Amino acid sequence: MGYLSRLLGVGAALVLLSASVVGAEERDPTKPRVPPDQLADAKAKKNPFEPTADSIAKGKALYEGKGTCFNCHGKTGKGDGPAGAMLNPSPRDFTNCKFHKKRKDGELFWVIKNGSPGTGMVSLIPAAITEEEAWHIINYERSFCKGE
Ligand code: HEC
Repeated sequence: MGYLSRLLGVGAALVLLSASVVGAEERDPTKPRVPPDQLADAKAKKNPFEPTADSIAKGKALYEGKGTCFNCHGKTGKGDGPAGAMLNPSPRDFTNCKFHKKRKDGELFWVIKNGSPGTGMVSLIPAAITEEEAWHIINYERSFCKGE
């Protein structure tokens, strides 16, 4: 005991510390969040707004304003907002184009409206934003994907 166990203890503490500094992982972003019995309906729901410059600008103002999305998802959309750092699983990284390819707008809308159970993503319609505002924010969130 003594030295070795203390050494192991310090090692374990460092591992825990680095885990909390680095933050938690995202839960697999390619898997649907909408329950299977509602998935087809969610996918079929269309965004009433085209992703025009005007809609994206409205979405940005809401994302960084009364929607409070940036607190968790970060101003740059990477899921690294100040409040998000404490969450496990961590907030969605909207710069991940693979995620966007996997999701229809209606599925994103479903999560904004119902939350993602068991995570920090709680229902934000009508608590923070209206349905109409959510669609503009979705157009903005899509714009974080810059490439393929
Ligand atoms: C308190 C922190 C927090 C706030 C505020 C927040 N989110 Fe989230 N959000 C999360 C977390 C955590 C996840 C990951 C949930 C998961 O992995 O299932 C997430 C996931 C999402 C997803 C991905 C859903 C999917 O299909 O995988 C969308 C879209 C989303 N958030 C939109 C928003 C919008 C829009 C706002 C603002 C109106 C917002 N979030 C505000 C924490 C937050």
